[in-house]
Amino acid sequence: MACSSMQSFFLGSHACPVSGHFTLKRKIGHSSVNCAHVLDGHGTLAADCIPVETTHFGTLKRSFTERKFEIEDRELGNGIFGRFGGKFVPETLMTCLNNLETEFKSVLRDSEFQAELATALRDYVGRETPLYFAKRLTEHYKNEDGEGPEIYLKREDLNHGGAHKINNALAQAMIAKRMGRTSIVAATGAGQHGVATAAACAKLSLDCTIFMGTKDIEKQYSNVVLMELLGAQVKSVHGNFKDATSEAIRNWVGDLESNYYLSGTVVGPHPCPTMVREFQSVIGKETRKQAMEKWGGKPDVLVACVGSGSNALGLFHEFLDDQDVTLIGVEAGGFGLDSGLHSATLARGELGVYHGAMCYLLQDDDGQIVGPHSIGVGLEYPGVSPELSFLKDTGRAEFYTATDGEALEAYKLLCRMEGIFPSLEASHALAFLEKLCPTLPNATKVVVNCSGRGDKDAGTVLSNIKSNNYFQPAK
Ligand SMILES: Cc1ncc(COP(=O)(O)O)c(C=O)c1O
Repeated sequence: MACSSMQSFFLGSHACPVSGHFTLKRKIGHSSVNCAHVLDGHGTLAADCIPVETTHFGTLKRSFTERKFEIEDRELGNGIFGRFGGKFVPETLMTCLNNLETEFKSVLRDSEFQAELATALRDYVGRETPLYFAKRLTEHYKNEDGEGPEIYLKREDLNHGGAHKINNALAQAMIAKRMGRTSIVAATGAGQHGVATAAACAKLSLDCTIFMGTKDIEKQYSNVVLMELLGAQVKSVHGNFKDATSEAIRNWVGDLESNYYLSGTVVGPHPCPTMVREFQSVIGKETRKQAMEKWGGKPDVLVACVGSGSNALGLFHEFLDDQDVTLIGVEAGGFGLDSGLHSATLARGELGVYHGAMCYLLQDDDGQIVGPHSIGVGLEYPGVSPELSFLKDTGRAEFYTATDGEALEAYKLLCRMEGIFPSLEASHALAFLEKLCPTLPNATKVVVNCSGRGDKDAGTVLSNIKSNNYFQPAK
């Protein structure tokens, strides 16, 4: 087991007492997993295993409601997805995470909370987001016989704040309030999660501190301005998103009583990935309903960019059991996989533990983190969702990459073809259409998750077009 001396957010971890993040590169075993045990692939037990307690007085029958909740709890799982996930945290954090899990499960069955969330998602966030038929893009990808797939965009860019991030930020801010926390701590890369969290905190009257890497502050400055106008304190951290995340968690553990760490994506120790996935799964649920309304069936192919995985899982999760729906995640290929400057964790990562969970991870031979790169700042993360890691292993989802240059071309194309400016993150998913479309039968229904809007990236796109330098690593 490699135990890095680099600074960690999980101070005092017994696994790595030198306050370092650590990666498991060579020695992997469930004995080292700080969780109960591994269940089946999705961390669930079969529904017919409902325990029936036997006492001296006979068999205690569980009420229907109790049994229903037990099944629901099991379906949510324990955060272990095959060999991925878990809670690699010091013991001092276990109570806090367990309390969070209890609260999360309780809000899922609290009709008042659910009604309040549904109203906020409708009236504040602007859901449901449209499933938009991209007519000109569809035409663009037709072959010379006039055949090709039909392309639809799930317009998460139209959410309040300009990205999918608000679906989760708002729900978790409501949980924090319910738990009596007064101060929200979060980390952001592209700034979209920061804006979403700051907005939710303003709405719910919660203090908000957002940690952001110095490099990202420079690249996504318009979002920094928005966060501050929304009342958040933006704290700069030397580095990028991974460094900001470590600092945010460090800040959170400094005052567990009043702070709430609002995770923006499907990474970290259980229950964080499961919670974020559940709150993002509205994307897939709406897509299923809208597809049924529009063409009376399911989509054939779903495509989403993968940074850490929340917009991808948000779209995919609803369709995991629909084997006839192909799931495609597109990672950031940066300057190309062989350049070493990319964020293609699922393509090039190896098993390791990062920010409290086992996942694929970009690391060197010593198990040290390799810094990620992407022109889509929100894709720059060396780890990835444990659940997506599992979906890669099982083959249920396929993963590909798009380079910086390909993403820039896709950004420009969507602007010109549809009058829509996608975020550079979402542009990676759109870029993959170039390779995907020629392989698909006529009239295949493809849904691409347009995870965010790209006004924050307009400057980057313009300067790269002008200097035409996006095929070379920046000096
Ligand atoms: C618009 C947008 N899309 C995608 C991502 C990548 O995150 P995730 O993989 O969690 O969806 C980000 C991250 O900031 C984002 O802002």
